[in-house]
Amino acid sequence: MSRREQFLDALGLMPEWLPRQHGVPLEVPEAAAGGGERAATAMAANATAAPDTRPASGTVAAPRPEYPGPADVDMPAPPAGRALGGEHARSNDGVSARALEIATLDWEPLARHVADCQACQLCERRTNTVFGVGDQQAEWMFIGEGPGEQEDLQGEPFVGQSGKLLDNMLRALGMSRQRNVYIANIVKCRPPRNRDPEPEEAAVCEPYLQRQIALLKPRLIVVLGKVAAHRLLRTDAPVSRLRGQVHDYEGIPVVVTYHPSYLLRSPNEKAKAWDDLCFARALHERSGPSAGRA
Ligand code: URA
Repeated sequence: MSRREQFLDALGLMPEWLPRQHGVPLEVPEAAAGGGERAATAMAANATAAPDTRPASGTVAAPRPEYPGPADVDMPAPPAGRALGGEHARSNDGVSARALEIATLDWEPLARHVADCQACQLCERRTNTVFGVGDQQAEWMFIGEGPGEQEDLQGEPFVGQSGKLLDNMLRALGMSRQRNVYIANIVKCRPPRNRDPEPEEAAVCEPYLQRQIALLKPRLIVVLGKVAAHRLLRTDAPVSRLRGQVHDYEGIPVVVTYHPSYLLRSPNEKAKAWDDLCFARALHERSGPSAGRA
């Protein structure tokens, strides 16, 4: 067994965690195919504390009986100018001055803004804010739900048990959180007892994630789990239906997979998560030459 195989074996991921052959044509949402309005233009409008009304997403293709492959996917064009945060933040009357300000910030002031944030009740019990971690030049972005206990203590996303699994998944792809990957969450403060973030909490935190995406300009977003998928894609569909398709966030292809903590509880699903990552990798490869970043 190679080192890599030994590693996958130790994770309990052999023999399933092998690249799959994907043959089924993939349905691409209109926005991701480059046409029509951006799918997520409502996000900044929702960035005030207003409850999330969750408009039905037009970006989700119908569920498919088999796991599809990327071979026939038309990749969305890279977002022109990459002014995503600005684009979100302009033009909506409902956008708060706070969201507009956040949309102008560079990495350091953005991190300071997060560290000082008191925009929702989650600030009251946090030990640390959890801004994000990784390579600010990364082509891949992973988005989780929100900090847990360890993340709150250490101020870094995915450093607990689910983080270990995520690191192993990244390693299996030949990547790491230090190289060509950026990891962030929907909310930057820990929800008490690890409950799901409330819609209002996610809404007031959203300008931060929007700005992180705008600054990073990832070529691919991998969404981890239901909460992040619902928030980012404005859908209520289960992960089992969202995975295996290319979704769109502002022209950036989005792949949905299971949250690592769900995989820890349901190890039989790890093979599907690996399939999703292989799918994401194939999409990334198809999206053009990497800027030497793996
Ligand atoms: N789960 C998440 O969604 N994010 C983290 O940072 C840790 C656990």
